[in-house]
Amino acid sequence: MKITIVGAGFVGVNVCHNICLKNIVDDIVLVDINDTVKGKVLDLMQSKFINNFKTNIHSISDDDYSKTKNSDIIIITCGIPRKPGMSREDLFKTNYNIVKSVIDKLIKTSPNSIYIIVTNPVDKILDMINYNTYLNIPKNKLIGLGNILDTSRFKYYIYENLEEKTMDIEADVIGLHTDKKMIPLINHAKVGDKLIKDFISKDILDKIVNDTKNGGAILTNLMNTSAYYSPAASVTLLVESIINDSKNILNCSTLLNGEYGIYNKFIGVPVVIGKSGIEKIIIKDLDEKELILLKDISPL
Ligand code: 2OP
Repeated sequence: MKITIVGAGFVGVNVCHNICLKNIVDDIVLVDINDTVKGKVLDLMQSKFINNFKTNIHSISDDDYSKTKNSDIIIITCGIPRKPGMSREDLFKTNYNIVKSVIDKLIKTSPNSIYIIVTNPVDKILDMINYNTYLNIPKNKLIGLGNILDTSRFKYYIYENLEEKTMDIEADVIGLHTDKKMIPLINHAKVGDKLIKDFISKDILDKIVNDTKNGGAILTNLMNTSAYYSPAASVTLLVESIINDSKNILNCSTLLNGEYGIYNKFIGVPVVIGKSGIEKIIIKDLDEKELILLKDISPL
């Protein structure tokens, strides 16, 4: 199993480290425009005999992508992160061009790879990649990361508001990975077998939804850059689900062609993840308001 990670910033390096610790990958190629990627790879490799992982990590810091040849999974984290006050959409012009130039190169030597896009604004970048049909990446192999992270934040904010702490929380976020178009499914969220709307006050429910939607911005204000531990953990869960052919249901950005009445748009919805990437789109039973919010994202 061979993985290429493009972007050795905080997210990319943490994804690399997390995957090494899972001990399920033979080779990781870590790509960056900055030469410091060589040091990061050397530092990670020198933890090999402490963490006992089989993975060999290789670095690229120039235009020669030959080492990435025949990658099974390619993870795109390159681009600029948000600064306080910025929306993810503000990054589009810069980041789309970076992502497209990278994929144009990678597709030549890894035509059969599964592509996981992390760079923001992830859904819009995916729409533009899909628009460039010449890339011919099958829709099951083009996955947007966003709502896995949002879902984990949603569960965290529910957890934080429980008097009796438990991790037995079922909650989903769908929609776009943006502050405004993210849809935490608050009416479906459960603790154990109880719907949270039946025992948590409306004010607290509203706060949970707002904190979830603003989860990225809250951290950017605290850290003066975008989050990286929870995004990296989200990518690692997705990679592990692919490699283990787990058939996990995860909320990922995927190309909808009629599902939920939406056509030719990347939106985060529940999907079955296995060795071939997105294996099935799950049609969740949404209430009227949730369906309207989802369709509002992509007026027909
Ligand atoms: C976040 O929500 C970076 O988009 C990522 O933290």
